[in-house]
Amino acid sequence: MILQASEYKQGKGSAMDYSAALDQAIGKLHEEGRYRTFIDIERRKGAYPQAIWTRPDGSETEITVWCGNDYLGMGQHPVVLKAMHEALDATGAGSGGTRNISGTTVYHKRLEVELADLHGQEAALVFSSAYNANDATLSTLRKLFPGLIIYSDQLNHASMIEGIKRFDGPKRIFRHNDIQHLRELLAADDPAAPKLIAFESIYSMDGDFGPIEAICDLADEFNALTYLDEVHAVGMYGPRGGGVAERDGLTGRIDIFNGTLGKAFGVFGGYIAGTAKMMDAIRSYAPGFIFTTSIPPSVAAGAAAAIAFLKTSDGQELRDKQQLHARILKMRLRGLGMPIIDHGSHIVPVHVGHPVHCKALSDMLLAEFGIYVQPINFPTVPRGTERLRFTPSPVHDPKQIDQLVHAMDDLWSQCKLNRHTCVA
Ligand SMILES: Cc1ncc(COP(=O)(O)O)c(C=O)c1O
Repeated sequence: MILQASEYKQGKGSAMDYSAALDQAIGKLHEEGRYRTFIDIERRKGAYPQAIWTRPDGSETEITVWCGNDYLGMGQHPVVLKAMHEALDATGAGSGGTRNISGTTVYHKRLEVELADLHGQEAALVFSSAYNANDATLSTLRKLFPGLIIYSDQLNHASMIEGIKRFDGPKRIFRHNDIQHLRELLAADDPAAPKLIAFESIYSMDGDFGPIEAICDLADEFNALTYLDEVHAVGMYGPRGGGVAERDGLTGRIDIFNGTLGKAFGVFGGYIAGTAKMMDAIRSYAPGFIFTTSIPPSVAAGAAAAIAFLKTSDGQELRDKQQLHARILKMRLRGLGMPIIDHGSHIVPVHVGHPVHCKALSDMLLAEFGIYVQPINFPTVPRGTERLRFTPSPVHDPKQIDQLVHAMDDLWSQCKLNRHTCVA
């Protein structure tokens, strides 16, 4: 019999009982109704948002995915799959190294050129995820700008928060989207100190937009750099899918863009974009870029194909259809008196406000209607604001939208939940 290490290490005397500590940590999540269960789904190429759900007992059910971040269905787009197949057949599976040691291929270089062009910047750097890109870049900046102060929106994504925590320099948190508060914080610091403002163009849990122009104005006034996470906006906004900054004509005012290749571009990976000098410095100093295997060439090829496609009018057609579906879904749920959170973006959150109810609704949608939407609980959102977050795409058809609306109506009545409150 093979014993797990933890079985040997039951607390002896005053020594730590590791197993009990794990039970306690996991038990706490169960008690608070926020223990996470991953459901096992297999997407069907060409049929997405349909997928097969395999239950723990092995039985299978066809479901509709309503919470994916493959916002435009690019994960199954023939242009992307063709590029990936070709690269896979040409080069094999992995890159075989870090960017510095044999892991830079023509596919990585092409992808970075595509990304720089997307954001109207001189250069870009690809990371294994946008999480890594945020964490590695923000934590490295103090090496480049001694004395740097980072100003961070209170609702910034965990990856920015982690990077800023590890940044080991002065940091200020401004209230979410509160320009006046940001101004006060900037004004209170030494005018000569180097500064950077980190924020997002779309905060994905509420679907609200960051005040990009007003923040850029403050950055000009206080000689600060701007760091914009466009993870939920790239591919989705702007005439070429360059994000909200592109849509609003503000591309030239951002110093560092962050984006993902894993959501609207449908593949995997993350990046930053900026001046050639900024990219060169981060490339040279960020451990999270230097000491890790580069993404597989096939992934780079697929992402580059998705970005190139979404720059075209065909890409615009997908964006338009996605926006239309989001508007229809919001209108119909609002018509039923559901408490939707509507800031005019592509995301459709429905406020539930209790972790146990939120999980129960999600379970019922799945079990009774074959509709998959993951409950969003603390710490992803503040306690009391638990929600179901729907992500309509161009590949959700009117029948699937109809099914969702009827299922929500049915459950809202069954569970006697409140209607007629719109949170905006
Ligand atoms: C705002 C934001 N930034 C960064 C990330 C990380 O992106 P990735 O999945 O590429 O690591 C996420 C992921 O959801 C996000 O929401």
